[in-house]
Amino acid sequence: MTEQDIRKGLVGVVADVTAISKVNPETNSLLYRGYPVQELAATQPVDAVAHLLWHGELPTGDQLAEQRRRARPHRALPPELREAIDRMPVDAHPMDEVRTAVSVLGALDTAGAASVLEAVGTPERNRERSLRLFAVLPAVVAYGQRRRRGLEIIEPRDDLDDAANFLWMTFGEEPDPVVVDAFNRSLILYAEHSFNASTFTARVIASTLSDLYSAVVGAIGALKGPLHGGANEAVMHVFDEIGDAATVEAWLDRALAEKRKIMGFGHRVYKRGDSRVPTMKAALDALVAHYDRPDVAELYDALEREFTGRKGIYPNLDYPSGPAYNLMGFDTVTFTPLFVAARVVGWTAHIMEQYAANALIRPLSAYDGPAERHVDGYVADE
Ligand code: CMC
Repeated sequence: MTEQDIRKGLVGVVADVTAISKVNPETNSLLYRGYPVQELAATQPVDAVAHLLWHGELPTGDQLAEQRRRARPHRALPPELREAIDRMPVDAHPMDEVRTAVSVLGALDTAGAASVLEAVGTPERNRERSLRLFAVLPAVVAYGQRRRRGLEIIEPRDDLDDAANFLWMTFGEEPDPVVVDAFNRSLILYAEHSFNASTFTARVIASTLSDLYSAVVGAIGALKGPLHGGANEAVMHVFDEIGDAATVEAWLDRALAEKRKIMGFGHRVYKRGDSRVPTMKAALDALVAHYDRPDVAELYDALEREFTGRKGIYPNLDYPSGPAYNLMGFDTVTFTPLFVAARVVGWTAHIMEQYAANALIRPLSAYDGPAERHVDGYVADE
């Protein structure tokens, strides 16, 4: 095997086909089942987009009502899960909390399965599991933030759609429509992005015919890293570190001299801008106006102008979503769990697609360790 055969980081490798989404860096576009994501973000509630990603079509009115009827009972934390969360240290990183929560939900749901051979479940069961995870994860994330702040849990409200209910369960206040709209858009933009690291992780796990929960747990682990989903949290640390627009230049001089990666910029697939950024930037602008925080937009613009101007590296979705979640009132450590609550739709769609046309994912490696050698004193059996 030559060095040219080795695609470190699987750069440029097409690992399988998918009908779920298409990322096109040439046209700077992202399609969910054929629909441009910005059109979906502007017109749909996030659960309609979940239906699209899982089933291939936007729901009719009746289909959406039926999906909501089945999802609503799962919006509250099951008592066993709440107990498990309460046993975790209150300062545990919420990504660890969410990852553990999915593991607990898996144990509760698959209890009684006679063997690992049953783990994969039927397609119908997996559609139900996907809907349940989508319904319950906002409760996990919202309760996590409240627990860290020493506040009481808030029960879901059936009259609110998903984005509004998520905000309600986190803050306990009737959310403003401007905030609901920006939040709904962010959840749709985060819902799916083809074979990114966490989705690929989920597909690798599903390809062994392990269960859907195990695949989602693995995906959450992959998402936590700052080169992937952890970047939206990391962006906020950068904003906090810089402070205001006037100090951007000096901060960037230092950061680049130290060879730091600037969080929220760059992408493996998009090299001339992330297709999701304009939609999320418009949502951030609406929040800046709503909260009257022009300083946030000034810092955002100054860092983009300086860094992209110097390096030709463009913002990715995490760049506008970090400050947007901050303005909404989420704790910085909660940003990546918000990404989980949205991306669980894409993960589960991919897990089900993997099961439906499975081939075990098992690449090769080129060995470059010591040549064959032998343990002193070993005598081979006759
Ligand atoms: N800051 C500074 N330099 C950068 C950055 C950045 N954010 N992104 C890329 N570069 C440089 C990199 O150092 C390399 O330079 P050189 O050729 O001199 O070594 C060059 O650009 C090519 O970068 P790369 O690391 O080969 O590109 P990649 O495709 O492997 O990495 C990336 C993509 C996302 C890991 C990288 O851009 C990065 O680390 N960005 C910061 C973290 C981040 O924002 N992640 C979110 C990704 S998108 C949404 C999501 O998944 O949540």
